[in-house]
Amino acid sequence: MRPCGFAGWRLNVAALTFAWHTEAMGLPVIIQGGMGVGVSSWRLAHAVSERGQLGVVSGTALDQVLVRRLQDGDAGGHVRRALDQLPFPRMAARILQRYFIPGGKVPDQPYIRIPLHQKDNPRDLVELCIAGNFVEVFLAKEGHGNPAGINYLEKIQLPHLPSIYGALLAGVDAVLMGAGIPIRVPGVLDRLALHQQATYPLYVIGAGPDDDTTMTFNPRDYAEGEPRPLKRPLFLPIIASNTLAATLVKKSNGRVDGFIIEGPTAGGHNAPPRGKMQLDENGEPIYGERDVVDLARMRELGLPFWLAGGFGSPEKLQEALANGAAGIQVGTAFAFCEESGLLDELKQSVLTETFKLKTDALASPTGFPFKVIQHRDTVAASTVYNDRPRICDLGYLREAYKTGEGEIGYRCAGEPVSLYVSKGGNEAGANGRLCLCNGLMANIGLGQVRGGGRHHEPGLLTAGDDVINVTRFLQPGQTHYTAGDVIRTLLGN
Ligand SMILES: Cc1cc2nc3c(=O)[nH]c(=O)nc-3n(C[C@H](O)[C@H](O)[C@H](O)COP(=O)(O)O)c2cc1C
Repeated sequence: MRPCGFAGWRLNVAALTFAWHTEAMGLPVIIQGGMGVGVSSWRLAHAVSERGQLGVVSGTALDQVLVRRLQDGDAGGHVRRALDQLPFPRMAARILQRYFIPGGKVPDQPYIRIPLHQKDNPRDLVELCIAGNFVEVFLAKEGHGNPAGINYLEKIQLPHLPSIYGALLAGVDAVLMGAGIPIRVPGVLDRLALHQQATYPLYVIGAGPDDDTTMTFNPRDYAEGEPRPLKRPLFLPIIASNTLAATLVKKSNGRVDGFIIEGPTAGGHNAPPRGKMQLDENGEPIYGERDVVDLARMRELGLPFWLAGGFGSPEKLQEALANGAAGIQVGTAFAFCEESGLLDELKQSVLTETFKLKTDALASPTGFPFKVIQHRDTVAASTVYNDRPRICDLGYLREAYKTGEGEIGYRCAGEPVSLYVSKGGNEAGANGRLCLCNGLMANIGLGQVRGGGRHHEPGLLTAGDDVINVTRFLQPGQTHYTAGDVIRTLLGN
């Protein structure tokens, strides 16, 4: 197998066992994992791709990231430079006109709110998804000939279609998707690459077969002029079980090109343990033998795979290759490097101070376990968070449900409890939930400001178990390291 788009990659780990295998397929050994929101920004993905490994931008909430960067004045002009290349100039002009503030907004002024996503989105919001995804991928690929990917969470379904289209317009080389069963995504890639109308089934709680839950997106409704041909990127689902991998191979509506196998030590969301969730004395989920992916069975599927979750060291890379993996996907080590989108003070608090890491079974409104760093500046169920009134005004993690009137409603376990319950949500299910949307935006300096500047959203930092090892990338006497330092260390150079 030699997937298109990767043929030019060179491998710099000839000494490693099985490396020839990866090189023969033209695939990278290191994938820098997608990290939302905006942690794996274009800057980080660019730094990784430029060095011949696969840089991956996070595709989460890029509509929001776009409008907030513009309101902050777009320092360096990167967003505007990318928007200039959007093949839909009138769309780009509309966005600039509405959101760009020369010199940036006054710090205490809140960001303009954009509509929350629904099954049928207003045109403006669809355009922001197309443009936001285009900008991020365009900048990650700018000025070098190497591939770059984008990462989405399947669970955040509402923006999928226009977001993927925007990434394709910028020539994205790989789409990576976890947190769900992305069985219908390969077909979407096939169709959107041809500028054809695509559909995606929205999961609506309580809906039956007669309910219309299909989201539809037709690129022709947004294109200006005759669009140029697009490349169909590789599709690499992120999985945590053999069953899911086999199902995706057998039942997907198009080609699956390989897998990322992610274990429960990885940063961000983790797949829940098999069976009924049981917690240990610290409130963390207990994983067992059933949660371990059988690599022999993965090899039988005949597709390349990368191992993720605690693989950020040269020894673990070698171990992965020896087990037949094409390489590794690494997140945590890259999250704290200079090019990542995290605010510098958050990086420094992890590199120079003490903190605790918890796999929190409750924090994420998705119900998936979510790793949270607990230290003085971030929320993490600490006193800072207890003072924050519940607000759901970004809404990416809202679930769709069928209302009593037969319509589609939306609710989030992180919104005010009475509101959540009034929409049929279970009160117990709202306990302990944090507002990931607002917290993650704050991590990258794009947090909302409320109350005339009195309240700034606190950050909500996540990382994998490997976070205790990130200082290994620091040179003696240094307080910062780069993506290049991570790659060099992992490759044993
Ligand atoms: C800060 C952070 C944010 C993450 N966000 C996402 C995400 O949005 N989507 C996703 O599929 N994985 C996400 N991940 C997981 C990474 O893509 C990667 O698979 C994982 O970090 C690998 O394990 P490691 O953390 O031990 O290196 C995130 C990880 C971190 C550290």
